[in-house]
Amino acid sequence: MNKCKISGRPLNKIFDFGKQPLGNGFITKKNFINEYFFKMVVGFCNESKMFQLYFQPSPNKMFHKNYAFYSSTSKHMKIHFRNFFKTLIKHKALKSKDAFIVEIGSNDGIMLKNFASKNYKHLGIEPSANVAKIAKNNQINTRISFFNNETSNFILNNYGKANLIYAANVICHIPNIKNLFANIKKILKNEGIFVFEDPYLGDVIKKTSYDQIYDEHVYLFSIHSIKYLASLYNLELFDAKHQTTHGGSMRYYICHSGNYKPLKSIQKYLSHEKKLGLDNFKKLKKFKINIDKSKFELVALLKKLKKKGKIVAGYAATSKSTTILNLCNINSELISYISDTTKDKQNKYSPGMHIPIKNYDYFKNNYPDYAVLFAWNHQKEIFKKEKDFIKKGGKWIIFVPKVKIV
Ligand code: TYD
Repeated sequence: MNKCKISGRPLNKIFDFGKQPLGNGFITKKNFINEYFFKMVVGFCNESKMFQLYFQPSPNKMFHKNYAFYSSTSKHMKIHFRNFFKTLIKHKALKSKDAFIVEIGSNDGIMLKNFASKNYKHLGIEPSANVAKIAKNNQINTRISFFNNETSNFILNNYGKANLIYAANVICHIPNIKNLFANIKKILKNEGIFVFEDPYLGDVIKKTSYDQIYDEHVYLFSIHSIKYLASLYNLELFDAKHQTTHGGSMRYYICHSGNYKPLKSIQKYLSHEKKLGLDNFKKLKKFKINIDKSKFELVALLKKLKKKGKIVAGYAATSKSTTILNLCNINSELISYISDTTKDKQNKYSPGMHIPIKNYDYFKNNYPDYAVLFAWNHQKEIFKKEKDFIKKGGKWIIFVPKVKIV
């Protein structure tokens, strides 16, 4: 039986995506034959309120020396992290001059460089060697490892407890999240805070953005589930702030229980989530109906365009797109190529469906009739950048919150 990774109770099945490859598993032709697939099913626990994958590939399969996600590829994300930094340094927990900061999953140092440039004592923990190397080359103190018992002991022995531990789009990737919370409890100073942000279940349900579900996203958090999880370790969720990044995220503020007064935001979000049905498996079942509808409409639209002889390309080979393409069985007959700015993805093929990945110049020189906006979470930035595509007669296809041509 599949059990909740937090409460140990049986999970209630929400959606079965069937066989899925790794979201970031961009692949060369010679490796098609060895491609890795896993059974992707999501479920919900009525006790912990945690929305989660039944099974996930081992983290070593996902975060390794060839990990293809570089945080600094988006201008908008750079600004977001700069603002996140500015908010964090104002907090009481960072008052002391020798405050020590730990980032879990520091990637290429996009966020930690703000602390480094102000001479904060800091340490980034990053398991993917290729991205960590970029941070190291930029003088950002980085340790190439997972955040686990060994790393926590290393931190305690070499740096002492932390004033601030933070993470962005990382905590939901960690299957053994109970162990993570136990280690946070251990290495967080008495007055310290643990702040993290991840895609928010509330947005996924509201917008039917089911593409947020892929191997790396073991969990989709809510205020309900994080409150429950923190309480198991005598930690407390005392504030939360909704973010527009990654198609809608939530930033959670956690302290040792009783050390900061819970703010009104918590009660406000709890009521909001009850209305959305995020605390209740029965209400969440509607998500399945919405996914099926979205899938049907996207495939029907692409087939119609193919029949008319239109050329359709994909814009941005996001990890999220892997779920869409594989669930909807969309291959290079329906989408001729996907353009992406990340070098490591270019000249490879999309996971599972093997659509060719081209560089950005290819898109500029071969405008399709339609482009499917896989990076819909960067819509504003992209639409602004791609005015010429529209001028030359191109059209966008979006699928969140509804499938349509814009
Ligand atoms: P993101 O939505 O952050 O991806 P994910 O679903 O993987 O979390 O988008 C990152 C990918 O999108 C990355 O491969 C670069 C690509 N991209 C472009 O090709 N062009 C763009 O203008 C943007 C913003 C992203």
